[in-house]
Amino acid sequence: ASRAWAGTPLADVPPGGILRSKARLPRPFQVPLPVPPVLEPTLRTATTDYYNMTQREARLEILPGLRTKCWTYDGLFPGPTIVSRSGRRTVVTHRNELPQPTVVHLHGGHTPAESDGYPIDLTMPVGSAMSYDDAMAGMPEMHGSSGNLSHGQRSYTYPMLQRAATLWYHDHRMGYTGPAVYRGLAGFHLLTDDEEDGLDLPRGSRDIPLLLADRAFGENGGLLYPAVDSGMHKPGVVHSHHFGMMGDVILVNGAPWPVHRVRRQRYRLRFLNGCNVRDFRLELDPPPPGGRGLLQIGSDGGLLGTPLAHDSLRMAPAERFDIIVDFARYRPGTKVRLVNRFGSGSTAQVMRFDVSPSSRKPHDDTHIPKRLSHYPATVLDPSKAVAHRTFAFRHSRDGWTINGLPYKPGRSLARVKLGTVEIWKFTSVFFHSVHVHLDAFRVLSRNGKKPGAFDAGWKDTVATGPGETVEVAVRFTDYAGKFMIHCHNLEHEDMAMMADFSTY
Ligand code: C2O
Ligand code: CU
Repeated sequence: ASRAWAGTPLADVPPGGILRSKARLPRPFQVPLPVPPVLEPTLRTATTDYYNMTQREARLEILPGLRTKCWTYDGLFPGPTIVSRSGRRTVVTHRNELPQPTVVHLHGGHTPAESDGYPIDLTMPVGSAMSYDDAMAGMPEMHGSSGNLSHGQRSYTYPMLQRAATLWYHDHRMGYTGPAVYRGLAGFHLLTDDEEDGLDLPRGSRDIPLLLADRAFGENGGLLYPAVDSGMHKPGVVHSHHFGMMGDVILVNGAPWPVHRVRRQRYRLRFLNGCNVRDFRLELDPPPPGGRGLLQIGSDGGLLGTPLAHDSLRMAPAERFDIIVDFARYRPGTKVRLVNRFGSGSTAQVMRFDVSPSSRKPHDDTHIPKRLSHYPATVLDPSKAVAHRTFAFRHSRDGWTINGLPYKPGRSLARVKLGTVEIWKFTSVFFHSVHVHLDAFRVLSRNGKKPGAFDAGWKDTVATGPGETVEVAVRFTDYAGKFMIHCHNLEHEDMAMMADFSTY
């Protein structure tokens, strides 16, 4: 069986380049910003909230007047938002009505291995006659390993023994994560807790998750993806000509360059870089008088200890930045563009906030305190480290590798004792977005110096640039089993830049 993405329009993408849309694109800032709906549980018990989701194809109007066939959670892209409470178990039952096997990973979740979305724990399509061997065809490195298979549906159990944070869920099938997420399999999963509730942060319609993603569209609105090389990682074959998928259309919550009307008040914008590979440098244009318009209150793993003001935000794939923007700093009627300084032409624009023209300034009852969180960082005291390890993210004869090895399920690169601190060093010769499952970490140093402006707080994903070395302190708790570390450039991931580590 071929591993090409069945049914996908083929397109060639120049090496390291951007795929250009053939469809008629709207002018920026015409389409209103959608906000994904919050999913209602089907059942709440004393301890647990139960949810059902159906993975299915849907034809969505992304570009005005055109229909785009997507792979969706519940017919939506992004999928519906789940809001969980820290300490309450969440069980999500996913039914797979797509034509291909799927795997769901809760990114940022402190999740037991059996629900973590191990990439060969496939859920086969409902009623499908496809065998496991068919699903794994073309992956010779798979021989001798087998996943935990389920048919039609699977329930993922999330104990949520973790603090409030902006998590997201997405597909994680081995070798196919790039095309599956690109087609639409991604959504938010927000976690709340008492500490965060105790703050007067913006809420309700002023607390907005924003999933940024780039795509390219064919003439009739279909998604373009360079099916050549998608997910190929045969050992011994070099794939250096494929650096990952970038499109020329920037979507926010599934809408191209949208616009959103805001009042002259504080807003909480939870940014997620949901692109396969694209890096952003986001800025407000114009900046508010006095600058520093992007006040960071949280990162991947929840609230920072103290807020951090930025003029721009650098965001690698899968990173989250929890940002307060106070639109009261702008004059009534200002049109504030969110721009991407790493982009050019169509990809230099992201979205626009239109500040209310009314000169009456509404009362704002929110407050951003100097101390946001008392969550202790001391559990990650690097002087207590019991092991030092290096993970080298490199391109080699075997393709995109970690420590020279392409991914092989069941081959663990590290055995880590639960509850101990370790120092992990990530080295890189190209751009990568390094993600560790199970628990958040803290960045200790970047290139031997102190962490960079975007390394603050509890992270689960960290950008590494060419020639860079990033040192982090990790500590895993509660769950023994096998988990993954990988590049979140999804094409690198699919081309085997992934490894298991195990906890005991
Ligand atoms: Cu967001 Cu292992 O992935
Ligand atoms: Cu990479």
